[in-house]
Amino acid sequence: MKVLVIGSGGREHAVIKSLQRNKRISAIYCAPGNGGTGCDSHCVPVKDTDIDGMTDFVLKNSIDYVVVTPDDPLVLGMTDALEEKGIRCFGPAKSAARIEGSKIFSKNLMKKYNIPTASYEVFTDPNDACNYIKSVFVNFPLVIKADGLARGKGVIIAENQREALDAIESMMGKKIFGSSGSSVVIEEFLTGPEVTVLAFTDGKTIKPMISSMDHKRINDGNLGPNTGGMGVIAPNPYYTKEIASVCEEKIIKPTINALQNEGILFKGCLYFGLMLTQKGPYVIEYNCRFGDPETQAILPLLETDLFDIFEAVTDGRLNEIEIKWKNEHSACIVLASGGYPSDFKTGIAIKGLNAKGQIESDAFIFHAGTQYKDGTFLTSGGRVMGVCATGSSLETALEKAYRAAGLVSFEGMHYRKDIGRH
Ligand code: AMP
Ligand code: GLY
Repeated sequence: MKVLVIGSGGREHAVIKSLQRNKRISAIYCAPGNGGTGCDSHCVPVKDTDIDGMTDFVLKNSIDYVVVTPDDPLVLGMTDALEEKGIRCFGPAKSAARIEGSKIFSKNLMKKYNIPTASYEVFTDPNDACNYIKSVFVNFPLVIKADGLARGKGVIIAENQREALDAIESMMGKKIFGSSGSSVVIEEFLTGPEVTVLAFTDGKTIKPMISSMDHKRINDGNLGPNTGGMGVIAPNPYYTKEIASVCEEKIIKPTINALQNEGILFKGCLYFGLMLTQKGPYVIEYNCRFGDPETQAILPLLETDLFDIFEAVTDGRLNEIEIKWKNEHSACIVLASGGYPSDFKTGIAIKGLNAKGQIESDAFIFHAGTQYKDGTFLTSGGRVMGVCATGSSLETALEKAYRAAGLVSFEGMHYRKDIGRH
């Protein structure tokens, strides 16, 4: 069986690492991949959004199964195009990927089906948005979100009227996110610990994975700008059994029922970004895919074969498979380029890695922004790699991961020293 994983992040590397355990898989490909996926699979130089190029590669190389991992190809309809050619896939169709591709769609879905979420207004006209911001009804901080995909940067928390008006000007006026910001959602600011819950679903059955906690801000103490995620611990200490059962009844099952009711079959991984507020758990966002870096921390805890789960999802028989998790903890520390999430240099040599892109330790490195050139691993992105470890306690997992992170270095390297401490 030949399997192709689409994407190039630490998440994709983690998926590949788990797929390597399956005996039926004879070859794994990754498009376009990175320096680390090149050690564990065959990298294919096709852009993840190139639907025609990808379909062509899949057909010419007799690929049997494709895992569509990132948001962009999913929202563009990569799964639909491949399935049309008879290729089996993991990842939702375009119609279902809208749950991430349009915040307006997801907010309206939650409102219609009484799934707890921050109260909100939708604006398609910048003048209306500004008038609303200036009205007496709004309290600050106020959360302003571009409707479409914006590489994780489309959410602005405005502390005052000035910042809110500036946000509207950048999104709707200057169009810094292109057409993604043509419409915006303005919503109530909520507070509380955040939890990521990923769930496998075949559109009928939904099975949550182990919970996790991402650390979105660039600096220690949860300070500085938002990033794609600087580190993760799993399970999330705030996500107790009691809270998990409330979330399943009020959020997780109702979401899959809502999609079904709308005639949308979601097959893949559904990402619930939750906030545990004083008023109970709320949905901050849905994503139509595995989270990154969350997946890097979660998959090492999975006992059941990942590819068996993928196939059960594709075939609509997720109810038949029992998913087992290790009774352990996991930690992932992201090593980032200096300057990220703003401008950063690339092409910097990474020191401390062996020929397989790993370090001699009990931790594992999932590569993200790396490339392998002339015998050296070089940086090629903002989040360069995730250093991950598991252990019988959170402390052990963190200690192993931090010890391993200390063995890697590159000019400008930055990582948070307080993952799992908040
Ligand atoms: P998102 O891109 O939707 O994940 O949002 C990025 C981050 O912004 C979230 O992880 C939250 O920390 C924060 N955020 C988004 N919506 C809200 C909200 N309504 N209230 C408070 N914080 C929010
Ligand atoms: N780590 C956040 C995300 O994957 O969207």
